Amino acid sequence: MQQKLNSLKLDVLEKIKSLKTESEVIDYRNAIVGKNGSLTEILKWIKDLSVEEKQTIGKLSNDIKVAILEAFEMRLKEIKKIEVEAKLANEFFDVTTPASSDTKIHLHPITAVLRQVEDTFKRMGFDIFESNEVTTEFFNFDSLNIPATHPARDMQDTFWLEWMGNVLATQTSSMQNIIMKSQKLPIKALIPGRVFRNEDIDATHENTFYQVEWMVIDKNISLANLKYTIKTMLSDLFGKEVEIRLRPGYFPFVEPGVEVDFSCTFCDGKSPCRVCKWSSWIEFMWAGLIHPNVLTNAWIDPEIYSGFAFGFGLNRLAMIKYNIPDIRYFQHPNLSFLKQF
Ligand code: PHE
Repeated sequence: MQQKLNSLKLDVLEKIKSLKTESEVIDYRNAIVGKNGSLTEILKWIKDLSVEEKQTIGKLSNDIKVAILEAFEMRLKEIKKIEVEAKLANEFFDVTTPASSDTKIHLHPITAVLRQVEDTFKRMGFDIFESNEVTTEFFNFDSLNIPATHPARDMQDTFWLEWMGNVLATQTSSMQNIIMKSQKLPIKALIPGRVFRNEDIDATHENTFYQVEWMVIDKNISLANLKYTIKTMLSDLFGKEVEIRLRPGYFPFVEPGVEVDFSCTFCDGKSPCRVCKWSSWIEFMWAGLIHPNVLTNAWIDPEIYSGFAFGFGLNRLAMIKYNIPDIRYFQHPNLSFLKQF
């Protein structure tokens, strides 16, 4: 019996050294000390031995079991160490290596045009205020001279939230009152943001889209400042000098209000043009001088201060710039569309 145990011990310890993987170790351990393992089977005989034998053999077998279990543990640790070392050797990653030249970061087209717009105006000393997506009825409508009964509310079919008086912002103009009240005068603000309207969705209408708006408040601000700013911005954006044309437009929070077109930068006005549809003007934005009531709602004296605001849809700008035919593409997680930018 003693011999059997000792030779088993030697065999097992020898074999353990040759095991290569964690699962090999575990399988072999089960084969030796598991429920029906060979050592376990031998130990079952101990109960039939005499008292003296039990003392010697019992102690010996217990020592052997402990030694074998220890050897298994050791081997497992060794294997893990070898695995980690192999990983470190094979998966070496030099964090100081310069980025490979074919790594291309893809900005979403909305982000790309927004960054371009922001760059121009940061240089001109504008502060950027991202528009709140959830706002109140007061900021979205009342503060902008659009009281509850005003028909202009119908133009922006609004998502009302269950909390009393809260809405999903329908326009970045909903930030005007907030900015006027929280900033020192004069104010030069650029307000990008995501806005929501209950639209019937088609190639040019989405219920979720992006606007960007500008607001300037100072002494002696006139329509001339507005025209100059818009013309400069559009020329910068399209990389060549553009002409602008103002048409009367109605928004309750500006007086006078205008819609702004710019001369088509994509055609010569003679051949068919998909962008301006041969009119050689692109209808693009809304603008106006801030209505005195809107200033008063933010505790600004309209006798001393005046201001202008203008804005446009960023989706539309990206569609014009990148020749994107359908507004629905912007919200779809379609990688082959997004990777083009
Ligand atoms: N907020 C208006 C809209 O979404 C656009 C606008 C902005 C008009 C600034 C005038 C001045 O329809």
